[in-house]
Amino acid sequence: MAFHITKAVIPAAGLGTRFLPATKAMPKEMLPVVDKPAIQYVVEEAVAAGLTDVLMITGRNKNALENHFDRATELESTLAQKGDTDKLSKVEYSNTLADVHYVRQGDPRGLGHAVLRAKMHVGHEPFAVLLGDDLIDARDVLLSRMIEEAESRTATVIALLEVEPEAAHLYGIATVEETGTDDVVRVTGLVEKPPTGSAPSNFAVIGRYVLQPEIFEVLEQTPPGKGDEIQLTDALQTLARTGQAGGVYGVVFRGRRYDTGDRLDYIKAIVQLALDREDLGVGLKPWLQEFVAGLD
Ligand code: G1P
Repeated sequence: MAFHITKAVIPAAGLGTRFLPATKAMPKEMLPVVDKPAIQYVVEEAVAAGLTDVLMITGRNKNALENHFDRATELESTLAQKGDTDKLSKVEYSNTLADVHYVRQGDPRGLGHAVLRAKMHVGHEPFAVLLGDDLIDARDVLLSRMIEEAESRTATVIALLEVEPEAAHLYGIATVEETGTDDVVRVTGLVEKPPTGSAPSNFAVIGRYVLQPEIFEVLEQTPPGKGDEIQLTDALQTLARTGQAGGVYGVVFRGRRYDTGDRLDYIKAIVQLALDREDLGVGLKPWLQEFVAGLD
């Protein structure tokens, strides 16, 4: 039976050590990208693709996340009294966006382990996984395209981006075959973060997955891999190799993606997104041009 996909799982239990001390008492998912926490972009993307049931896999310091997607009664009434409807709607928006649920990861034993924690909530349905470090420009289509392919093929679908060979060691890398559909490939193998120079292709896995429920049984059988962690990539490699649960396909993404996972890319993401904003771009662009012209 074909299921209509409605559930999104967002792992948000990472320690965010690359952003210390900012992440000492706050999850990295709450770091602002321009004026919105990174995680809100991800939830908005899930909702735009029709996934309004969101499960976050959290760790310690999850309070800020829960509060962000909840009512802020005092703040709301203060803004209402002042008649500041613009700010009020910004505050209210994040708690009306989706039906957000939480489960703790417990031991941080890798992305595969985090996804396994969604088993009870997801049940026997296909679902999406969105990683918060990858932001996909809201003007470009990725997740809904993946869902379309996963539903029509009853298969697992991952998102692929062509990267420079020097960057391959930072990603899961896929070996692929053409399917006859321009933006869809069949994935025949996957390897997590191959050492420099040994990547089997330049197709990198980016943080969007549409998974079949069989992934849970496979993850339960997957031993720790790279970094002694249970890797989602390794479980997907099992599906790609055996063709189990419809096999694995990749949607090749050619749109705009922003990486907020490390400090330099995070800064670049903020500048790019702010430049595109109606309220900020006008002021930022001339300043940036002047600033760059003044650099040695
Ligand atoms: C994870 C996955 C990796 C994937 C990447 C995409 O790695 O394990 O396969 O390519 O996300 O962002 P992380 O960046 O969390 O270490």
